[in-house]
Amino acid sequence: MSRILIAAAGGRVARRVAAALCARGETPRALVRDAAKARRVLVDDRGAALPVELVTSDIAELDGMRRALEGVEIAFLALGSSLDQVALEKGFIDVAADTHLPHLVKLSAAAAASDAGSRRCCAGTLQSSRISPRAAFPTRSSARRPSRTS
Ligand SMILES: NC(=O)c1ccc[n+]([C@@H]2O[C@H](COP(=O)([O-])OP(=O)(O)OC[C@H]3O[C@@H](n4cnc5c(N)ncnc54)[C@H](OP(=O)(O)O)[C@@H]3O)[C@@H](O)[C@H]2O)c1
Repeated sequence: MSRILIAAAGGRVARRVAAALCARGETPRALVRDAAKARRVLVDDRGAALPVELVTSDIAELDGMRRALEGVEIAFLALGSSLDQVALEKGFIDVAADTHLPHLVKLSAAAAASDAGSRRCCAGTLQSSRISPRAAFPTRSSARRPSRTS
């Protein structure tokens, strides 16, 4: 059984996380709302289907979320930006807390403000759960990273 869940796995970032995990020998569970799109995009660099366990559900559907989170030890959440994003992420975290998810990694955005609505709401929801969270903050571009020689 998969111990890793990638939620919204058909997204541009999440599909690369799925490919990287599969390249390391993992068989993650991939939660998608469009199975046909997922089969198209969840492929390796040769176009071969990734060995993921596909679960089809909208993140707003609680039963689908419970199925997706069953037995999972770590979830990666990379939901697309929309007006519903905060509500959907909070709903996901609530189901994850109910199903005793131990660890959650939530993809944030580059240079997200510390008081951004999504960050504040998710932090509050996570604090009242027993989930161990990690927020991944992407950098804007590698050119902005400090030089190793300086
Ligand atoms: N792209 C980047 O370089 C980048 C960099 C840093 C941070 N981010 C942040 O990371 C997050 C993801 O970015 P992305 O570019 O990977 O997004 P994306 O390509 O737009 O993918 C988002 C995914 O979320 C899924 N989704 C949206 N609503 C859903 C719902 N109700 N139920 C189930 N799935 C749902 C979409 O499903 P469908 O495929 O069915 O539409 C899609 O696969 C965003 O919050 C973005 O701000 C992105």
